[in-house]
Amino acid sequence: MPATKAQPKEMLPLVDKPTIQYGVEEAIASGIEQVIMVTGGGKRAIVDHFDRSLELEHYLEERGKSDLLHILSEVDELSNQLDITYIQQKEPLGLGHAVWTARRLVENEACAVLLADDVILCEGRPALKQLIDAHRSTGATVLAVRRVPKSEVSRYGIIATGGSRGGIHEIVDIVEKPPAGDAPSDLAALGRYVLLPAVFGELDRGEPGAGNEIQLVDAIKRTIGHQPVVGVEFEGDYYDTGTVPGYLRANLMLAMKRNGLREELAPLLRELLETSPESV
Ligand code: G1P
Repeated sequence: MPATKAQPKEMLPLVDKPTIQYGVEEAIASGIEQVIMVTGGGKRAIVDHFDRSLELEHYLEERGKSDLLHILSEVDELSNQLDITYIQQKEPLGLGHAVWTARRLVENEACAVLLADDVILCEGRPALKQLIDAHRSTGATVLAVRRVPKSEVSRYGIIATGGSRGGIHEIVDIVEKPPAGDAPSDLAALGRYVLLPAVFGELDRGEPGAGNEIQLVDAIKRTIGHQPVVGVEFEGDYYDTGTVPGYLRANLMLAMKRNGLREELAPLLRELLETSPESV
């Protein structure tokens, strides 16, 4: 805030692309063909972003802006590879409730959930594909997990593990945002899930949990013991863009990876550190 007062946070740019586009690219690269976007207010900007703008194309064509037309066509190509449905979550009742609003469209199938403000960039297999592969080999509900510093466990869903093999942990318990002293481990669930239909059955109860919100973690937890649930220690660079420091870090790291920007930014950063090292 206030940047997200009148626009969804998923539309904030990371360098020059809205955050949500990274998620859509990851979904496509993971083999997803149908996307349900659950949004709070201000969904129009997201709809427009993935829609074709004939007016803008015409304007750019007339002015011979072929580089910008090329960027537009890349976004078009993305949305052509998907069927996108939009659902408005009318009240912010929690992540579990947001996922539950898609229940009629998901029907009785396993589905993937991607939290757009958790950006994960991979050189190899996309994070979501790593989860889908783990789901195919285990038949389980799958969560993306990673170790986080103890000081951060209270920001995440934290898992307790049984046996582990090859980066896949059997999940025996999961707690939403525990205080550091009560966390069952330092393995946090980070914004990617493959859910078995049973999770939707549990979400139907609509029971509020931590923060008085309907938590996805609680619904997953209630399936443990009846359905297999595993955590995958995924590979890739993770950026929590939902906080100001995380958002700035993502922008900086992505800009430094970009040819053409790195050359401009690196000397600037060096200069900043040299001129005011005491403030760092
Ligand atoms: C949500 C989930 C939490 C998860 C986190 C990952 O929390 O409820 O379990 O660890 O995303 O970013 P939120 O960040 O929406 O508070």
